Amino acid sequence: MSRTPLVAGNWKMNGRRSMAASLAAEIAAAAPAGVEVLLCPPLVYLDTVASAVQASDVVLGAQNLDEHEDGAFTGEVSAEMLVDVACRYVLVGHSERRTLFAESSARVADKFFRALDAGLRPVLCVGETLAEREAGNTEQVINAQLDAVFGRATAEQMVDTVIAYEPVWAIGTGMTASPEQAQAVHAHIRSRLASSFGAPLAQSLRLLYGGSVKADNAASLFAGADIDGGLVGGASLDAATFLAICQAATA
Ligand code: 13P
Repeated sequence: MSRTPLVAGNWKMNGRRSMAASLAAEIAAAAPAGVEVLLCPPLVYLDTVASAVQASDVVLGAQNLDEHEDGAFTGEVSAEMLVDVACRYVLVGHSERRTLFAESSARVADKFFRALDAGLRPVLCVGETLAEREAGNTEQVINAQLDAVFGRATAEQMVDTVIAYEPVWAIGTGMTASPEQAQAVHAHIRSRLASSFGAPLAQSLRLLYGGSVKADNAASLFAGADIDGGLVGGASLDAATFLAICQAATA
């Protein structure tokens, strides 16, 4: 089954309004056909980026959401608010949220379903630490992160979702997983999807690789049979570099 590749830029907590506007405009003006391009800027610049990409096919996402509906949750942002400012996607369970903000897999799952209920497409991020990999526990860790969501989901709910494999040891370190390491975990995730939801659903979902994706390694990573694009951090902050990565996904 052919899957439209997806390349997402996770800007994390970087940039200012003028940079957000110009970066988004440059990407919108030159985004290649044949790949879905998603930008996830800081929350306060969602509107700015929404305006910049409005006339293009580039889509907008957020980096996080709260698992509750609107209410007394000071400092948080609801799924409905993200929809209201034109978000189509939202990252859930990024390793920085899991580790720095102590988000449990159960809470990540709550966010995942809250996003779906509001009509957002969740991008579920999973990945092991270096210690977990070296102890031979990669699949076990990924399984636990997946099962927190899969155990509560129907195949119908999974249709509009994306899973991103981001080995924690490769995030922001310049230490990319090899194409073989990445493909092996992606194949494992797809097989877990197949056993939980059936082969057709598993074949239709996009699985992204994240962790030090750069212009010069993107093509070899995206060549993996089960790698359908990337979730890009640092390299998404430069338009030419990010566009080259988007281009690599169209091959
Ligand atoms: P880097 O591309 O900077 O390693 O970040 C990856 C990431 O965390 C994307 O969500």
